[in-house]
Amino acid sequence: RRSIRLAVVPGDGIGPEVVAEGLKVLAAVLPQDVKLETTEYDLGARRWHATGETLTDADLRSLGQHDAILLGAIGDPTVPSGVLERGVLLKLRFEFDHYVNLRPGKLHPNTAGPLAGSPAVDLVVVREGTEGPYAGNGGTLRTGTPAEVATEVSVNTAYGVERVIRYAFERANARPRRKLTLVHKNNVLVHAGNLWKNTFDAVAAEYPDVTTDYLHVDAATIFFVTRPERFDVIVTDNLFGDILTDLAAAVTGGIGLAASGNINPTGAHPSMFEPVHGSAPDIAGTGTADPTATVLSVALLLRHLNHDQEAERVEAAVAADLAERDPNAPRRTEQIGDALAARLAG
Ligand code: IPM
Ligand code: MN
Repeated sequence: RRSIRLAVVPGDGIGPEVVAEGLKVLAAVLPQDVKLETTEYDLGARRWHATGETLTDADLRSLGQHDAILLGAIGDPTVPSGVLERGVLLKLRFEFDHYVNLRPGKLHPNTAGPLAGSPAVDLVVVREGTEGPYAGNGGTLRTGTPAEVATEVSVNTAYGVERVIRYAFERANARPRRKLTLVHKNNVLVHAGNLWKNTFDAVAAEYPDVTTDYLHVDAATIFFVTRPERFDVIVTDNLFGDILTDLAAAVTGGIGLAASGNINPTGAHPSMFEPVHGSAPDIAGTGTADPTATVLSVALLLRHLNHDQEAERVEAAVAADLAERDPNAPRRTEQIGDALAARLAG
C-alpha cells in the first residue's frame, strides 16, 4: 500500500496525548514513498458538551472512507456513564462490524508486574466484538421503585459465534504452538455456552493441527495468573473477553502496554486500533501516560494494512525500549514517543 488514509480519533482524557506519540512513531517508521493522510475527528466529551452529539451518520460515512482508524480513549467523568461508551466506542465497533477484538499479551523481559521473570508469555485473546451482553438488549421494569427489574440479555447468534471462532482457528493455525482455548461458562450459561461449545467443536474438526481445550471463565482467571504460559490463542465472548484482557494486561507488563485491534476481517469497513486502557482522567494532561500501548496498536494497524515489516520494526523498537527502562526513572509521554521514533529513524 503506497498511501494510508487514516482516521484519527484522539478522544478523551489521555487519548490525545498517547495518540500524538502513536502518530509520531507511525510517521517515523513509514517509508518515504508511503503517503500518510490523516483526518482528525472530534468525538467524545468535548463534542457532546458542545453539541449533544456522540457519533452521527455523517461521521460514520466519513470515517468509513478511511483505510483504518486510530483511537485514543473514550469516556469522561463529566458525562453520564455509558453515554460516550455506547454512543461512540461501541457504536463504532457495531456499525463497522468489528467482530474480532484482537488483544495480544506478551511478557517482555524486564517488564514490571507480578509475573516478571516467569516463563515466556505470548498469548492472544480473540474477543468477540459485536454481540454478547454488549448488544444492548435489555431494559428495566418498574424503574426507580423497590421492585425494579433490570435485564441485560446476552445475544449470541450462530453467524456471529461461528465467524469469530473461525477467525481464531485461522490465527491459531498460523502460530507455532497451534493451540486454541475456548473460554465460556457453559456449566451455568447453558444456552449461549452450548452454542459456543458446539460451534467450537464443529469448526475444530476442520483444523486437525490445532490443539483445543475448553475452560470455564472462572478457572481461566486462575490460569491467567498462575500459568499464563499455558495459553496461545484464546477465543471468548465480548464480556468475558473484556475482563480477561485487562487481566492479561496486568500479568504481561501492565495496562500501559496492552494493544488492541477492532477488526473487520472482510475489509467491508475500516478496522480500528486502540490501546486497551481507558481515558485515565486522573492523569490526563499531566504528560505521564505511557504511550506504548498506542504505539503497539499502531503496529497492529500496520500489520493489518500489510505493512508487516514496519509492524515488526515498531515492535522491535518497543522491545528494545522496554529492555532499557529504569523503573526508578519514569519518562514523560512524549519522551517515550521521541525515544521510539528515534530508534526507528536511526
Ligand atoms: C475496552 C473498554 C470498553 C469495553 C468500554 C470503554 C466500553 O473497557 O475496550 O475494553 O468494555 O469494551
Ligand atoms: Mn475493557
